[in-house]
Parts: sequence; structure tokens; C-alpha cells
Amino acid sequence: MYNVHSVLQANMSTSEFASASPYSQGKQIPHITDFKYKEYLLSAGLHTLSNKYAVNVPEDLKVVNVALFALGRAGSFHLTNIMKSSRICLKYLVESDTDKLLRAKAEWRLPESVLLFPDEADRVFQDPSVHGVIIATPTFMHKDLIIRGLSAGKAVFCEKPIAEDIKGTRQCYEVAEKVGKPLMCGFNRRFDPSFSHLRDQVLLGVVGQVQLVKTVARDSPLPSIEYLKISGGIFHDCAVHDVDLICWVTGEYPTHVFASATAFIPEVAAINDHDTVAFTMKFPSGTISMTDLSRYAAYGYDQRLEVFGPKGMVASGNERPYQMTTSTVQGESQPPILHSFPSRYYDGYINELNHFCDVIQGLVDLQLSGENTLKVSTIATALEESAATGQMIEIKY
Ligand SMILES: NC(=O)c1ccc[n+]([C@@H]2O[C@H](COP(=O)([O-])OP(=O)(O)OC[C@H]3O[C@@H](n4cnc5c(N)ncnc54)[C@H](O)[C@@H]3O)[C@@H](O)[C@H]2O)c1
Repeated sequence: MYNVHSVLQANMSTSEFASASPYSQGKQIPHITDFKYKEYLLSAGLHTLSNKYAVNVPEDLKVVNVALFALGRAGSFHLTNIMKSSRICLKYLVESDTDKLLRAKAEWRLPESVLLFPDEADRVFQDPSVHGVIIATPTFMHKDLIIRGLSAGKAVFCEKPIAEDIKGTRQCYEVAEKVGKPLMCGFNRRFDPSFSHLRDQVLLGVVGQVQLVKTVARDSPLPSIEYLKISGGIFHDCAVHDVDLICWVTGEYPTHVFASATAFIPEVAAINDHDTVAFTMKFPSGTISMTDLSRYAAYGYDQRLEVFGPKGMVASGNERPYQMTTSTVQGESQPPILHSFPSRYYDGYINELNHFCDVIQGLVDLQLSGENTLKVSTIATALEESAATGQMIEIKY
């Protein structure tokens, strides 16, 4: 009878498994998971992806000229990513706060001509060398800037939500359609490497037909009340990310939604918003999704995605700043999860900006259609209605 121990003892060096020298296996190419290293190889000309070195990019688009509007929480990571990119040139930075402009000028050694106050923004729209406009102002200013940017023939990237309501969102996409320029909504979670790999696994059928999708999105740090007052409410400001992510993973839009919402934080209750939400969505195929949202998780920025089917489950958990485990007599512990959205979606924000540049350079089609963004906005409105009425809402698009 076959005995693994006797076989192992007879072949302790397992020399029968010896393989040829790795040098004989030809030139090594970066592994598909090594996307960060690829970025460095690009600069060294040792690897080509869709970028400014791509041969089919017209000469005047090899470097993408952009204007950035606002330098708040979102604008600050966009500015850093723009300045770190070899394929993007910052032509203008528009901000109402003088201190922020001066700090950015000093930190990135920007020429004076780059800095503009909002009342000088026409210079952006009149400058033919500007290819794209990146909008990270408070939400209520989005619509006006988007329409000005598109009407001036610029490609526009705008932080979510595109506008405060569906009517405004539709208006923006109608202008984009009319002028034939891309309007990209900043649904950054699609560009997160873990979430997009998870989606690939779902599309490959790893779990079989999708039965359940779960997402968790608990904010950290707690946003300021000043921000929340003009955020558009938790459904349009927060839930839209989960709705977009779930619809992107399932490839469907829900027919029925139900939401329940509470304000545990008195200051949030005082502005008629919610800090805690649970919602479910039912899709035409029968798939059900469940999401919970919170404006404040004490232990860090909690972002999870799980997809379950008859063949198994794929799940993406939280990431940590240090990869270590401390073991003592009390047990084992790990460092806290990443604390904030700029840390957690560090790669995703870079990837979404690169996608915007790819679109401007004509290398790929825009991944985020107007139809998708409008449907996500319709779903957020239905969720809001459900929370207000206590009823399940049927959605007809
Ligand atoms: N995708 C994401 O992960 C994400 C994260 C945070 C915020 N956001 C979105 O980004 C937008 C901004 O949010 P935030 O948290 O950065 O807000 P914030 O309050 O931190 O910053 C807003 C900035 O806009 C500036 N500003 C005000 N009026 C201006 C004008 N007319 N022109 C130029 N700048 C002006 C302010 O001085 C401030 O610096 C919101 O729409 C929000 O929904 C998206």
C-alpha cells in the first residue's frame, strides 16, 4: 500500500522535482498583481500601459492639462495625485480660501499663474490648452461648474454626487451628450484594487449565481457638521457609493428597496439627517443586497464587501497600515484598520484619475455612464423615501 512517509523518507531531497533554472524561462514580466511596481517601470520606460507613452495618443494629449476646483478633503488627495503623476500637468487650482492656495503654492512650488480665486475661473474655461476639469467643491456647486466646463469643451471629472437632485444630474449629462465630452462621476470604489478583483471573480463565476451581496460602510473620522449640513444627506452623500458598487458587481439595478435610518448623534438629528442606516435592495434576477452605513466608526474606516452564491463566497475585508500581529498572554492583536477614506482608497483615487486621463487620451471608453449615475441617484432618492415613509419602494426607471 502507498505510504507517503516511506516515499518521503526515500526521497528526502526530492531531487526528482528539480526544475530548470529560472533564467532559462525567458524574460520576466511584472505579475498582474504588481500594479504599483508597473507605475515605476512606466516612468523608466521599461513597461508600457495606457499612458503618455502610448503610440496612438495625439501629440497634444500626451500630457493631460487639468484644472482642479477646491482644496478640501477630496481636493487635497486629487492635488497630490495630479502633482505625482508624470502624465498630468496642473494648469489651474481654483480655491476660495487664500491660505489653502498659498500653502499649496509653497508645498508644490506652483507658479503664481496657476492659482485662481473662484471669480477668476473663466480663465480655466477660456484656456484652450485645458483638457480636463476636476471638481471637488461642495456638492451644491457641482452642477454649475460641470455645465460651464462641458460647455467650454472640457472633459469633466466631478466628485459624487454629480448634482443635488436627479433633475440637475440629468441636466449635466444632457449637456455632456450635446457637446460630446465625457462627464465622469467619482465613484472611486470601482477603482479599488481589492473590490475590482473581487468583481472579476464574481464575473468568472467563482461563487456561481449571486444570491447575496453585503456591504458595510462606516465612516471615519466623523465628518464635520458644517460638511454634513451641505452634503445632500446620508443617502445622496454616502449610500450612493454602496449602491454604485453593488450594481456594478451584480450588473443589475434593483426593482425594490427598503431603508431604515436613525440619528443617534444629537447634532446630526438637529440638521434632520441620519447617522445610521440599514438598507436592502432586490434585483430582477432575485439577488438581494444588504448594506449598513454609519457616519462614525470609532475603530476606523470600515469598508467591506461580500458576495455569496451556491459555489462559495468572495469577501474583501478591511486593510491595516502595518502588517503585524502582537501575541501576548492576553491573546493576539493587530493594529487598527486604516483610519480614513484617503488612506483606504489611496490606490483607488490614483486609478480613477488615471481612468479619467485614459478617457481624455482616447485610450478607453468611460466606465461610468450617465445612465448608471442617474440610476444610482434614482435609487438613493427611493431609499430616502423608504426611510421617511417606512415603506418598501418599487423603482421604475
Ligand atoms: N469620493 C470620495 O471619497 C469623497 C470624499 C470626500 C468628499 N467627496 C465629495 O467631494 C466634495 C467636496 O467634499 P470635501 O469633503 O472635500 O469638502 P470640504 O468642505 O473639505 O472642502 C470644500 C473646499 O471647497 C472650497 N470652496 C468653496 N467654494 C469654492 C469655490 N467656489 N471654488 C473653489 N473652491 C471652493 C472650500 O474652501 C474648501 O476648501 C463633495 O461633493 C463630497 O461629496 C468625495
